[in-house]
Amino acid sequence: MVNPTIEHDVKDLALADEGVSRIEWAAREMPVIKLIQEQFEREKPLRGVRLAACLHVTTETANLMITLQAGGAEVFLAASNPLSTQDSVAAALVARYNIPTFAVRGEDDALYYRHLHAVLDAKPNITMDDGADLVATLHKERRDLLDGIIGGTEETTTGVIRLRAMAKDGALAYPIVAVNEAQTKHLFDNRYGTGQSTIDGITRATNVLWAGKNVVIAGYGWCGKGVALRARGHGAKIIVTEVDPIRALEATMDGHHVMTMDEATRLGDIFITLTGDRDILDRQHFETMKDGAIVANSGHFNVEINIAALKEMSESQRTVRDSVEEYHLMDGRKIFLLAEGRLINLAAAEGHPASVMDMSFANQALAAELITRSQDKLTIEVHTVPPEIDNEVARLKLKSMGIEIDTLTEEQERYLNSWEVGT
Ligand code: ADE
Repeated sequence: MVNPTIEHDVKDLALADEGVSRIEWAAREMPVIKLIQEQFEREKPLRGVRLAACLHVTTETANLMITLQAGGAEVFLAASNPLSTQDSVAAALVARYNIPTFAVRGEDDALYYRHLHAVLDAKPNITMDDGADLVATLHKERRDLLDGIIGGTEETTTGVIRLRAMAKDGALAYPIVAVNEAQTKHLFDNRYGTGQSTIDGITRATNVLWAGKNVVIAGYGWCGKGVALRARGHGAKIIVTEVDPIRALEATMDGHHVMTMDEATRLGDIFITLTGDRDILDRQHFETMKDGAIVANSGHFNVEINIAALKEMSESQRTVRDSVEEYHLMDGRKIFLLAEGRLINLAAAEGHPASVMDMSFANQALAAELITRSQDKLTIEVHTVPPEIDNEVARLKLKSMGIEIDTLTEEQERYLNSWEVGT
């Protein structure tokens, strides 16, 4: 291991060897990123670009950072959540891959924001965000940097919602590519990634048996759908709560029970919030929950469960095992909150598996290339990922899986493009 002279703030550089081994393990399941990395190596499309990323510091993110660096970018990384950092990965990024990394698992809010400022100090040309904290901090506190920025990318639903709100307010000062809106991102990462990793996180934290449990899922977006699918696969009975009538209907016809949270709280054994909004589980809900209910969040921010209310209702609180906090309510019931209400799949497990992050991060890498190539030609708004990139990612993923698909004949193509032939 080299003795790094680059700037960094990580837990312990001695963890670097373990980190390298884990990063290489993830790479085995990231063939699309690997291909992009090889192409970047040859063409250096990001030469001269300084890129500040605020992402979960995981083995998969490490492979993305290595790819961007292979493309010629100077890369700086901060954590996008205080509890999701894999400390060995952060150490490896600094010691082995020479990537200035600022991330310590368990960091408090003050350090979290100091780390965002540390990557902004690099005067980036591109921001790469997961949740829009980096973009928001830059717009609120570091406006002097705006001149040097050519664009940014956003990884997650919550971040895209924030950025669209900024654009609507006329506050957004540079173009953003919404990676989350690529089909090869949300249809797979949000559904199968969140589905599997949320169950993984809750299982690692509690070792509960899912079979026969009433699992209440708040929010039936792609993430909620994925968790419902996987929890049902384990034999749980699914209750969905929603505010959107179409999604509620979809959940009903997918075979789930749909009801209000006020009703669901009396029945649920395990509650999982994935809405992107605040106070989904609030005082009135804790009041009617069963003794022993388990409460977890898998949405981006820790606002979905009103923890302050839970604290106020409790006579005592203690950690009963890693990631499990027991709240002993005044009336004698106990409610178990997982991972301080932070996203359970990254706080208590390892986030989405590499195979699915392969596609999300392929979109990220190609979006960074798109921004660089477009220079100042992208308009200042939130852009979707162009279908050419989306299709290319799907094509490469299928290829890596050894799957071939059909192509239309000329006749079929003509038929699809004509309106004359009917009955
Ligand atoms: N978001 C969800 N899972 C992730 C992972 N494994 N790495 C980075 N970001 C993620």
